[in-house]
Amino acid sequence: MKTNKNIMKKHNFNAGPSILPREVIEKAAAAVLDFDGLGLSILEISHRSKEFDAVMDDAVALFRELMNIPENYKVIFVGGGASTQFFHIPYNLLETKAGYINTGVWSKKAIKEAKNFGEVAVLASSEDRNFTYIPKNVEIPADLDYLHITTNNTIYGTEYHTDIDSPVNLIADMSSDILSRPVDVTKYAMIYGGAQKNLGPAGATFAIIREDIVGKVSRALPSMVDYRSHMNNNSMYNTPPVFPVYVIRETLKWIKSIGGVEEIYRRNKEKAELLYAEIDRNPLFRGTAEKEDRSLMNICFVMNPEYEALAPEFMEFAKERGMVGIKGHRLVGGFRASCYNALPKESVEALVATMQEFEKLHVK
Ligand SMILES: Cc1ncc(COP(=O)(O)O)c(C=O)c1O
Repeated sequence: MKTNKNIMKKHNFNAGPSILPREVIEKAAAAVLDFDGLGLSILEISHRSKEFDAVMDDAVALFRELMNIPENYKVIFVGGGASTQFFHIPYNLLETKAGYINTGVWSKKAIKEAKNFGEVAVLASSEDRNFTYIPKNVEIPADLDYLHITTNNTIYGTEYHTDIDSPVNLIADMSSDILSRPVDVTKYAMIYGGAQKNLGPAGATFAIIREDIVGKVSRALPSMVDYRSHMNNNSMYNTPPVFPVYVIRETLKWIKSIGGVEEIYRRNKEKAELLYAEIDRNPLFRGTAEKEDRSLMNICFVMNPEYEALAPEFMEFAKERGMVGIKGHRLVGGFRASCYNALPKESVEALVATMQEFEKLHVK
């Protein structure tokens, strides 16, 4: 595939939509022109064709294999983004009371939606310190319909590093850390998220749902909201996001080809350690999240107070060296380097070198 050689190599630290493996993008580009030698584009085939059926089946099978998803869970791919799940979850599962742990903007949005359907108990929150940590030792009442957590907080760069024990059905928004580390699926009743970080392009939402949790609430459910519509029809109750599901399948194949989730996890830890070590060493910078809760995916840092005025200059300096997407979210400020699965180690090394070069210019 032709690429413009005059374009500087970019290091894509975007928070989402974000970097995908180059070979996946090349496969997707080829499939847009001619899907599997059919003489048709992936964009113009029927979702009911046997060719797309195979794509959906493969995507689901690979997801199951890579995450070791037990038989009694269904995997679905639907539209609407994780934000639609914020209300689909309570619509389907909240009869009287649900528990939520508030670890940032995305948790808050999920809480807001759930309140439309029943009582919501916010069991813990890290808002007192601008969501720079994950609340620990949270007491979870046994009378909840479910407990909702956000395992990786994309904006603040905090992450649960273990699968918590919950006496009630545990539901996790894994939008920004899906397939980045091994997860014990059996600890969760449902895992969901937008695909546009570690899985594929924007436009598809994944959900892994334990079969026994659905169909229990007393309210009437519109068909598109009812999880059973999608679970019982292999995500084909209506037209699924055909092209995103194709790209997801290719990304899952890529993860398998490089050694699966264990290998991805090894790479993610290596990348994160490299960057956090530089943030901790370099006198210009400091990390914003509590060390023990630091995300492997979204690495947030700011300039130390005495160098704060240099922040715009550093941004420009990094841009000139090909860094893309390192501006921190407005709620945190500073910088955020999102190091998703597909980000090569070389990009992290390039960012570290940029930080060191900038230090030489400004620290005497
Ligand atoms: C953790 C998390 N949850 C939910 C969302 C919202 O996802 P969507 O835009 O797919 O609705 C995001 C988006 O960045 C996110 O990072």
